[in-house]
Amino acid sequence: MSTYTATTKTMTAWRQHRYGGADAVAAETVPVPVPRAGEVLVRVDAVSINSGDIHLMQGEPRLVRLFLGLRRPRVAGRGMDLAGTVVALGADVTGLRVGDRVVGAHQDTLAEFVAVPQKRLSAIPAEVSTTDAAALPIAGNTALTVLDRYGVGKDSRVLVVGAGGGVGTLTVQLAAALGAEVWATCGARAEETLRRLGAARTFDYRTTDLADLPADHFDVVVDIAGLQPLTLLRGLLRRGGKVALVGGDGGRVLGPVGRILRSLFVGRPGRRFVPITAVTKTPVTERLLAEAASGRLTPVIERTFAFEDASAALAHVEAGRTVGKVLVRGAHAG
Ligand SMILES: NC(=O)c1ccc[n+]([C@@H]2O[C@H](COP(=O)([O-])OP(=O)(O)OC[C@H]3O[C@@H](n4cnc5c(N)ncnc54)[C@H](OP(=O)(O)O)[C@@H]3O)[C@@H](O)[C@H]2O)c1
Repeated sequence: MSTYTATTKTMTAWRQHRYGGADAVAAETVPVPVPRAGEVLVRVDAVSINSGDIHLMQGEPRLVRLFLGLRRPRVAGRGMDLAGTVVALGADVTGLRVGDRVVGAHQDTLAEFVAVPQKRLSAIPAEVSTTDAAALPIAGNTALTVLDRYGVGKDSRVLVVGAGGGVGTLTVQLAAALGAEVWATCGARAEETLRRLGAARTFDYRTTDLADLPADHFDVVVDIAGLQPLTLLRGLLRRGGKVALVGGDGGRVLGPVGRILRSLFVGRPGRRFVPITAVTKTPVTERLLAEAASGRLTPVIERTFAFEDASAALAHVEAGRTVGKVLVRGAHAG
């Protein structure tokens, strides 16, 4: 199937019927969804893989199974971010036309086609490539949520811990564009990239002890890696500063919740820990697209996998060694 017509009835989608590693996710032939009122059918041209896809795939931390399905994932399709082309409109859709390029976050996006509520989609500006757009929704919304919440701006001192991945590379760029002085810890492979993106100083987490960074110095510590002792992060904050808990390796059962609970007991007067739960919102995605269109934001795309290799893309992100974002090209993308 190379293009969509009204007679296109089946498609390939990457699905799983048990929790597990990337080998639990397989290509299946399924019906092409029919867009309901308020939805559009999108031909998927690019999908970026997020850590969230991996948590859903593994059903970990186990706590999430209470909400996502105790024995197996209730939603079988993987993939959350998407960028693509509108191929059909449901009833009551206004403002979008067949052929428009759109981006957003939904579910079941590792598929040839996906029906998405119009309110979850944003038009991609002409200056932004479909692949760059695909890299933005979830990771970019997370980054901007943190920077907005703490009013990061000119002269803010920001430390991004775990800056080399999808969320981190966007956080560093956006914070630097806002005029902040950004320091970053990352793997050695990411240091040059992060300096190019605007980090004033970078540190290889394997050879640098955070305790050697200046104490009482930062307005915001963005903790993405979620592995460093909380007391160490607290000591880096100046009075009034905050640690934004974005990621957290708290074990297979509680995950970041364990770290968040521990953070309640290690605050220090005037220095707080704040858990971040970013929700992807179209106005925020549109700000990210505007930044990309102006050239101030360029997503780092480490690697793009073919649609047939989506399971390998999931395995690659699962390994946790990416610099920037990992994408899967749509089955029909040129
Ligand atoms: N709270 C929310 O709303 C929200 C939203 C999105 C994501 N998240 C969370 O954010 C976290 C990060 O996700 P991501 O997709 O950006 O990236 P990721 O895949 O977790 O990051 C990989 C990168 O992190 C580096 N790294 C690993 N351990 C490190 C450490 N101790 N210090 C510094 N860098 C380290 C790796 O370098 P090497 O390869 O050299 O090891 C690699 O470049 C995940 O835990 C995810 O669940 C939270």
